[in-house]
Amino acid sequence: MLELTREDVAGLLGKVDLVDVVREVFLAHASDRTVLPEESCLRWTNDQGESCRSLNMPGLVEIDGRRTAGTKIINASLGNPDRGLPRAGGIVLLFDITTARLVCSMDAAHISAGRTAAVSVLAAELLWARPARSIGLVGAGALAEAHLDLALRRWQSVREVRLHDQVLERAVRLTERLGDTFRTVAFHVASTAEQAVREADLVIPVTTTTTGYIPADWIAPGTVTVNVSLDDLLPDAFTVADQVIVDDWSLVAADTTRLLGRMHRSGDVLPPPRHRTAGAAGHRAPAVEVAAELCDLISGAATGRRSAEDRIVVNPFGMSLHDVAVAGKLYHEHHEHLTITSTTST
Ligand SMILES: NC(=O)c1ccc[n+]([C@@H]2O[C@H](COP(=O)([O-])OP(=O)(O)OC[C@H]3O[C@@H](n4cnc5c(N)ncnc54)[C@H](O)[C@@H]3O)[C@@H](O)[C@H]2O)c1
Repeated sequence: MLELTREDVAGLLGKVDLVDVVREVFLAHASDRTVLPEESCLRWTNDQGESCRSLNMPGLVEIDGRRTAGTKIINASLGNPDRGLPRAGGIVLLFDITTARLVCSMDAAHISAGRTAAVSVLAAELLWARPARSIGLVGAGALAEAHLDLALRRWQSVREVRLHDQVLERAVRLTERLGDTFRTVAFHVASTAEQAVREADLVIPVTTTTTGYIPADWIAPGTVTVNVSLDDLLPDAFTVADQVIVDDWSLVAADTTRLLGRMHRSGDVLPPPRHRTAGAAGHRAPAVEVAAELCDLISGAATGRRSAEDRIVVNPFGMSLHDVAVAGKLYHEHHEHLTITSTTST
């Protein structure tokens, strides 16, 4: 079995347009060329009292007539940053489509962060009223860096980034690193989450909180909020939103821990139109109506923003299909590189 390290993966990712890959995955998902089982999550508390978890996320996706199957196993312990370790890490395994045997294992950190950022960037481009001029982020870890790196390379429109972290030093270090690369952007360390969020065109929470703290009235009209870390918004940020968009409704609905899944279980969320069944609304009008899944916006089956003032919340639960598709691309890039190297050396 081929093994690709973190460095191998980082090198190969430079050859792949991640936004293009995630768009292809959504199109495949819209036309039933995917198999997306529920993910399984093992949670425990370690001997230091810290929360640990292991996610196993299998999936199969067919793009350009080629099927790729695999799984991402991604583990995290909240205490790791204090031990000088990344909070999360894992592997993506690829399976041979004929024999089902494992063919490749690759480090998951960059794939996972990169595909998550690519989904947010694609969602923002589909739903913003105009190209973002200001971005507000809460959390200054690996995901914040992946988002800003991708977005700022792609969008010349951005003039200002406001970043808050509960450990202010982390926000300072990240803004310094990015400031060296993106010299036309003004980076500000926000001393509160509210300062980072208020009046940003695009809001991206990327923390590890399980307790909401962003109320609806921090979010300006016209804003797109991509709720990457899933538990930062308070319920009224969903109920007041003009549109709520999810990546995959079945994953959101199956989840028992995150806010939107919990609100669904209490009867407060109406699924997107293609998942509605007679009587799904229950006895009272749900407070949140999910307008669409991202794949429907990309395929054109659903329309997105209706007015420049709409507040839009995207809730990207995270789909294994993106990890597997990106890993499949890297696997082929690796083989192509080997073929070119052996052709030129003979
Ligand atoms: N939706 C998806 O598809 C998806 C995919 C990958 C990761 N994630 C989630 O993204 C989040 C961030 O991941 P990461 O790898 O960047 O984590 P990380 O540990 O590298 O960084 C998280 C940062 O958030 C800060 N933070 C935590 N709680 C905070 C709060 N209440 N206010 C301000 N700052 C706070 C921490 O100090 C830390 O610097 C995680 O919750 C992860 O589960 C979501």
